[in-house]
Amino acid sequence: MKILVVGGGGREHTLVWKIVRSPRVGKVFTAPGNAGTAAIAENLNLRPTDIEGLGKAAKEKSIDLVVVGPEAPLASGIVDYFDKLGIPIFGPTKAATQVESSKVFARNLMEKYGIPCPKGAIFSSYSEAREYLQEQRPPVVVKAEGLAAGKGVIIASSLDEAHKALSDIMEAKVFSSAGDRVIIDEYLNGREVSLIAFTDGKTVSPMVPACDYKKIGDNDQGPNTGGMGSYSPPGFFSAQMAKKVTKDILLPTVKAMAKEGFPYKGVLYAGLMIIDGEPVVLEFNARFGDPETQVILPLLKTDLVDVLMAVVQGNLDRLKIEWSTEACVGVVMASGGYPGSYKTGFPIRGIDGVDKDVLVFHAGTKSGSDHVIYTDGGRVLTVVGVGQDMAEAREKVYRNISNIYFEGCYYRKDIALREIDKIKSKP
Ligand code: AMP
Ligand code: GLY
Repeated sequence: MKILVVGGGGREHTLVWKIVRSPRVGKVFTAPGNAGTAAIAENLNLRPTDIEGLGKAAKEKSIDLVVVGPEAPLASGIVDYFDKLGIPIFGPTKAATQVESSKVFARNLMEKYGIPCPKGAIFSSYSEAREYLQEQRPPVVVKAEGLAAGKGVIIASSLDEAHKALSDIMEAKVFSSAGDRVIIDEYLNGREVSLIAFTDGKTVSPMVPACDYKKIGDNDQGPNTGGMGSYSPPGFFSAQMAKKVTKDILLPTVKAMAKEGFPYKGVLYAGLMIIDGEPVVLEFNARFGDPETQVILPLLKTDLVDVLMAVVQGNLDRLKIEWSTEACVGVVMASGGYPGSYKTGFPIRGIDGVDKDVLVFHAGTKSGSDHVIYTDGGRVLTVVGVGQDMAEAREKVYRNISNIYFEGCYYRKDIALREIDKIKSKP
């Protein structure tokens, strides 16, 4: 088979790394990819949102399957477009992607079908939102409806801060039309976890659970990022809880989507808060997580291409997907200054020197004409280790990450640490 992976981050490098392992695969293309994918696939110089360009390239290269990483092309209808071309594609249609692209759509769906979500209110009028906010007690959560590169949710610890967020979103339009409507939510305090599932619209097959670290600094200090690291599986999320989330959240959502006329195929990502043993949905995403994918796919024992094809062909019920019970830790190396402004173009040294069983997934990297790899983005690499337990996985990552260097490089030192502390404190 010839497969095209759309995107160029750490998630896409991981997808390509797994796909090239399949005996069913002859050649893999990435658009646009990065220096990591260039080493194992062929990069095409096309933006993920250049849907027509991707369609043309897919025809020229006789692509058998397209796999979409990021949300933007899904929300722009890449799946609908390729369906029309008759080229198999993995991902939800534009209408089905609304579970991610419109928080208002997702919230209305959850409320209609009794899927647990925070108590909140939806506003399209700034003055009504302000009035409502006046009656709330902080902390309170203000969310822009649309896609805002992970920046559209503000957790305000005072009403002043919440009013500022509301005015930024609805008046100053800092996220443009993504802020036409807002949700004002109660603040939930619990443990956050992502349960991401494959679904063909009928069968739902969850992956191993993972935790993401969104803040830039250790101990969750500082501003939000695209994700600074992750691990799988979190000790607090039992197999029983995974079953409960599948039965009470994932399956009902997929069924609800079909009933509403938006059959859902691809990956359904539930961002959850677990409160006193009860899961609540903070958000849905219509795609694989980044950096969750970097710690999830190394634990997948089944051929990923078999899974992707079962989803596309609608026979996921016939496939038993197997997962390793090992632990996996991924730590993101970022450019100094990220998530604010940062410089790129620094040579990266030491990637080839890591232990054989340590994985280095590229995000913002590019190869120079001198074959040196240079930084080319905010999040640059994810260094991943698999171990018998979390302590071993973590130790592998941190032992190796210190040998990789580029000017200004930064990474969190506490990824998965809470899992280790828990083990240590057991009597
Ligand atoms: P979302 O894009 O909705 O997942 O929100 C981004 C992040 O904001 C989540 O990963 C949570 O950490 C946090 N968050 C969102 N909604 C709430 C809420 N109602 N209570 C507490 N934290 C929240
Ligand atoms: N890691 C969060 C996301 O992919 O949305």
